[in-house]
Amino acid sequence: MIFTGKELRWRNVENLKYKTIDLATERDVRNFEKIKTNSKYRPKFHITPPHGLLNDPNGFCYYNHQYHLFYQWFPFDTFHGMKHWMHLTSSDLIHWQEHGAKITPTEGYESHGAYSGAAIVEDDQAYLFYTGNIKLESDRDANQCLALLSSDNSVTKYAGNPVIQSVPEGYTGHVRDPKVLKDGGRYFMLLGAQRKADMKGCIIVYKSFDLTKWEFQGELNIEINAPFQSAYMFECPDLLKVDGQDVLIFSPQGVEPQEFRFHNKFNVVYCLGAVDFDNLSFKVEHWDELDRGFDFYAPQTLANSPDKPTLIAWAGTDEELPSMDYGWIHCLTLPRSLSVKQQRLHQYPEKLFEKVLAVQSESLQLNGEQSIHLDSLSFALNLELEQGGCNFEVALVNENNRSVNLVVNDNHISLFRTNYEHHAEDWCFGSTRELETDYDINTISLICDESIIEIYINDGRDVFTCLFFPQDVEHRLHISSTDNTKLNINLQYLTK
Ligand code: FRU
Repeated sequence: MIFTGKELRWRNVENLKYKTIDLATERDVRNFEKIKTNSKYRPKFHITPPHGLLNDPNGFCYYNHQYHLFYQWFPFDTFHGMKHWMHLTSSDLIHWQEHGAKITPTEGYESHGAYSGAAIVEDDQAYLFYTGNIKLESDRDANQCLALLSSDNSVTKYAGNPVIQSVPEGYTGHVRDPKVLKDGGRYFMLLGAQRKADMKGCIIVYKSFDLTKWEFQGELNIEINAPFQSAYMFECPDLLKVDGQDVLIFSPQGVEPQEFRFHNKFNVVYCLGAVDFDNLSFKVEHWDELDRGFDFYAPQTLANSPDKPTLIAWAGTDEELPSMDYGWIHCLTLPRSLSVKQQRLHQYPEKLFEKVLAVQSESLQLNGEQSIHLDSLSFALNLELEQGGCNFEVALVNENNRSVNLVVNDNHISLFRTNYEHHAEDWCFGSTRELETDYDINTISLICDESIIEIYINDGRDVFTCLFFPQDVEHRLHISSTDNTKLNINLQYLTK
């Protein structure tokens, strides 16, 4: 059966779209409770919404001795409706406590949703910037807003909201997703935007000395002629220093597919180089797609990190997924530590390895082929290649021979999720992702968590994020090689 999801929706779309959580009825609350108790497809270590829809991570910061994370949340259904900010805290970036909606769009300046934004921590106060989304008859407008997170975990909207009303001259209503940073005693706000002149995407910049009064500066000139410059909109800009280099991250929409890049509906780009706020420029030394898989969008980095720079993203942009049957849709990726090595941005889920996978279990050697029965679908598979051949396949196979396959032939990596039926509707974006590396492959870590797989090549020099929704839980790993590729295989289950 091809999954469509529509017949399974439990609510009427029209009445609900702009409902806020404070208006939830007893019946809604009973439905929420029912959804929360079903664990089908729920990852153990990836954040999912208790009910409804999750999208971008927001307000990610370290403040008052805890990690704080918010996400875009529509509580009532699995389509994109009125966006709230759900709040979570953690002491280790792995185990999270959920606190409910902390920004509920009840004011006129955010009449159609509290859209994405980021945090900055200054003088014992966390400032949360977000976009008040306004839908007009046939158009839209955007206000930039501020809310304050206090040490008792309460969030209060700034009385002087919005801090920026509407959009600057020359830009459409698509101006959103503030990221605020400090540079030489001044604060800069980056916003994703769309020019009126050519309807192309860009990043615009505002400046402030006190975080409440903002002055428009102009566009950030990303100094390179690259395919992403053709996007019709840039969403979710981010900028941080990693190992002494400036890293600019954004989510361009509408970029044409290249050979092995930009095959998703929306994709994410990072640029390594140097930012110059006085001249509003970013000089690019290297750029690439941030993730090479199917499901990765709108990442955000951790503000005020006590140790490594860290990133987390929304795993996917699909409109319909089988988890909708169970009243929720979407998850976030694992938090990934960032580093720059050999002029490439690396991402690696270090905290998962430190906190959950610290005990090393026994390793197997690949001898032609290995078939391993899986006790659960939450596991980490580490493969270490010995010198010599590099031709092998890892298949995650269920009883009906449906599988996700990772095929490595020297420097060519292919990831297939061809025969999972729910991806039928995505086929215009293809069911294979490929990558040709310009380095030798030494290690692969594949983390599977019920309905999401993250694959880290060479400690995260390249990463593939991939959702899959197996109907049955019985699975095995089939690892095989046609030549004498020597692999050390280590499998560990993820247990809470
Ligand atoms: C990215 C995005 C943002 C916007 C938010 C709305 O996925 O479209 O640009 O603020 O989602 O939920």
